[in-house]
Amino acid sequence: MSSFCYRDGTLCAESVPLTRIAEEIGTPCYVYSHSALIEAYADYARAFGDLRPLLCYACKANSNLAILNLFARLGSGFDIVSGGELARVLAAGGAPGTVVFSGVGKSEAEMRIALAHSILCFNVESASELERLNWVAGDMKRVAPVSFRVNPDVDAGSHPYISTGLKENKFGVPHGDALVLYRRAGQLANVRIVGIDCHIGSQITELSPYVGALDRILDLVTQLEAENIELEHIDLGGGLGIRYRDETPLALSDYAHAIRDRLVGRRERLILEPGRSLVGNGGLLLTRVEYLKHGEAKHFAVVDSAMNDLMRPTLYDAYHAVLPVTEHSEAPRVLYDVVGPVCESGDFLARDRELAVAEGDLLAIMSAGAYGMSMSSNYNTRPRAAEVMIDGATWRLIRTRESIAELFSREQLPP
Ligand code: LLP
Repeated sequence: MSSFCYRDGTLCAESVPLTRIAEEIGTPCYVYSHSALIEAYADYARAFGDLRPLLCYACKANSNLAILNLFARLGSGFDIVSGGELARVLAAGGAPGTVVFSGVGKSEAEMRIALAHSILCFNVESASELERLNWVAGDMKRVAPVSFRVNPDVDAGSHPYISTGLKENKFGVPHGDALVLYRRAGQLANVRIVGIDCHIGSQITELSPYVGALDRILDLVTQLEAENIELEHIDLGGGLGIRYRDETPLALSDYAHAIRDRLVGRRERLILEPGRSLVGNGGLLLTRVEYLKHGEAKHFAVVDSAMNDLMRPTLYDAYHAVLPVTEHSEAPRVLYDVVGPVCESGDFLARDRELAVAEGDLLAIMSAGAYGMSMSSNYNTRPRAAEVMIDGATWRLIRTRESIAELFSREQLPP
């Protein structure tokens, strides 16, 4: 059963009608389904079976402490990209020994804190980062576990902003430079080579880019073995794309099958860093229609959430389904742009959607669990949304709505 479905004409999250959440918490509000998150995690475990990968949940997809805590309790590791995300993982009860640290711009301070907590691995993305890490680790009398994030130069076929594995992208070290870098790492006293990794992008729905990347990585692993450089793990980066509209996402079983075929007989541990596929379809953004506005060329449903709450539509032209929480049979069906109150023409959540809605109605912006709240901002001095976790017939506030005073609490008037 889907975690979000209609019961007696009202859209529910698990067994809780979204009308109740709106009454008690207000809108806008992110709503997550506990069971959807657990099932998404279990799907990975099932699909990979005996390969038993370490899943390092990509915190950036949704870093609410309650969500990190849920994944920690399921045995997940974490992929982080900042000292802030490491602090969140620790606060949520995640084990630092399961943390991989990605990103092109790790600062010295971030390296120090990650070294102090003995994380599993630094995914190093440049020659300069390797030298800095070696120096910082030496200064702390530590040895940093490293993997190189290799840019395999394959086209992920997703939106250009979220494709990362092409040579023109800022990410990773060029495939052709990797051997030299591994040799250099082998000479450094304060780094220890533990793995190799790649991440070619997000919202990928085809198998071929993954397989292409893996083959390029394995080709390097073989060359490293010939030089007696042995690895403990192979990290294939982010997870699969999800269905927002009518995409046919790659089946996890097919992905797992292709990886198993290529890793059979190898002793390195497989690491994956899924984000979107663990939380994306387990969350929605609940919003209320403030006004219906009929322009000369377009009809607008002006809602109380905006691009500051969910940036994906305007940033990537991303599609999120919009469902009425209560079917409104008297309202005429009209083609609306669902827009927010922010002063930008790019402030839309959906365009050209046929909806039968009236002012005051609730709408659910679907598939908003990943890169929704985590990319939200306070633009237009809008307090960020509340977040609620639904579990069966019960729900829990996992982030209170920001107050306006909090938004300027750090600012100073002149004396
Ligand atoms: N590992 C690394 C190093 C990453 O950069 C990412 C995502 C992931 C793992 C997780 O990938 P996933 O399983 O979620 O595909 N804001 C964009 C997505 C940006 C993804 C950035 N990196 C969006 O809303 O579509």
